[in-house]
Amino acid sequence: MRSHPASADYARHLSLIGAALDARITHPTGDPLPRRSTWGPALDVALPRRGLGPDAVLDEVVAHLIPNGMRAVDPEWSGWILSAAESSVLAATAAAAVTGPQRYLLTAYNLVEDVSLRWLAQVCGLDPERMKGIYSSGGSVANLVALGAARQWAYEQRGVDVAADGMAAAGRPGAIYASSETHHTVLRAAAVLGLGRSAVREIPVDHRQRMDVAALAERLTADRAADVVPIAVVANAGTTNTGAIDPIRAIGELAHEHGAWFHVDGAYGLVAWADERVRPLLDGLDLADSAIVDPHKWLSAPTGIGATFVRDPTILERAFTQEPAAYLAAIDAPADVQVSVESMGIHYGDMGVELSAPARGTAVWATLLALGSEGVAARVREDRDLAAYLSRLAHEHPRLEVLAEPTLSITCFRYAVPATSPSDADALTEAIYHRLVRTTPYVPSTTRVAGALAIRPCFTNPRTDVEHVAGLADAVARIGDELTGR
Ligand SMILES: Cc1ncc(COP(=O)(O)O)c(C=O)c1O
Repeated sequence: MRSHPASADYARHLSLIGAALDARITHPTGDPLPRRSTWGPALDVALPRRGLGPDAVLDEVVAHLIPNGMRAVDPEWSGWILSAAESSVLAATAAAAVTGPQRYLLTAYNLVEDVSLRWLAQVCGLDPERMKGIYSSGGSVANLVALGAARQWAYEQRGVDVAADGMAAAGRPGAIYASSETHHTVLRAAAVLGLGRSAVREIPVDHRQRMDVAALAERLTADRAADVVPIAVVANAGTTNTGAIDPIRAIGELAHEHGAWFHVDGAYGLVAWADERVRPLLDGLDLADSAIVDPHKWLSAPTGIGATFVRDPTILERAFTQEPAAYLAAIDAPADVQVSVESMGIHYGDMGVELSAPARGTAVWATLLALGSEGVAARVREDRDLAAYLSRLAHEHPRLEVLAEPTLSITCFRYAVPATSPSDADALTEAIYHRLVRTTPYVPSTTRVAGALAIRPCFTNPRTDVEHVAGLADAVARIGDELTGR
């Protein structure tokens, strides 16, 4: 007999955890958050020698984790770009954790990985027949995979297999072109790929934080004259700071004119294609050689899910194949009805940087199944309307000003004091922000718009409604008045 047999009390545990989560969601918000000193000691304990058993774990989760987690489930949360998982996702994720702990083998989870990628492409305006996808842990790795494919492709055009022979064999340096508003994970990807952060050419932006296409053209031309390989041009479909969308078609055409791979970072904004009012801004997606989107941002998937789509999946295999592994050798036979180990199903392990990986598609499948394409469109539309509403409120208020108008669901604004210096204005915004998050339930984030500090709510939380937006504007104005003695 085993001394510690596996526990299998799923029904009771899931129903109790569900009840605790429901209680957290309906809990009146706005209470001050308990300080770490009140809950930290209960969790920061030594590893027990004798395990306490699953029921004790459940008690700890209910007593100490759920009440002391992020406020992301509260309607006043608008910080960062995320939305807490919903119950449909929870059920699917729990099922996958137990009966689909890997995305491989010809199981329902391997199929749902593929189905969900096709659905995701469809809601994001990518042609599921032409763009094949793979999940990874989020936008960081999704960008790395896309740019790794771009690097492989760029040097293959010049007769070099960098996956096999390394950058030392490349002969010529390469460059990646992206706007100065591009997420810093593009720089990190360049570092990891051996190109170096300095290989990323930061192209300036216009007054709406969109890439300056003329400046891009100049830089591409100058680099070509210097014998630099144009590896990829990156366009933003929704920047992290303001939600700006670069002129996608113009950038894609220029990239291809210069023989560069065209990548679209839509980690945040590609889902906005579901709102038909956004589609003209996303015109040109058909030119993309790769694109990414993070279901854990606007689609309520649990954090840890990004997707890379590429036009030619064979390039992923050439860039990322893990090489034959002895312990996987016997399971390569294609099979049709097979849930054991005779077929791996789709070989995602050869298309990215992970072998073992959860069946992330299950959560995406659950979200999209629960919402449908119309539900996704409604979410995006309503979140964008909230951002537009906040902009209106700020314009109408005598002491609020908008620093960046919303394109997607971000509005950058601040309390305005005429004739203050930029540094005094920033200091006041910072003081307002600190008082806001300490003394009210509102949790936006901050960012800089053309150098100026702004309060930056990002509306991707389906629990947020107009009264919370109005409450945020009022709270910022009130705290600004208090701090300036008005
Ligand atoms: C546009 C964009 N790209 C990439 C990333 C990185 O994504 P992740 O945090 O999922 O790794 C983010 C994150 O906010 C983002 O907004």
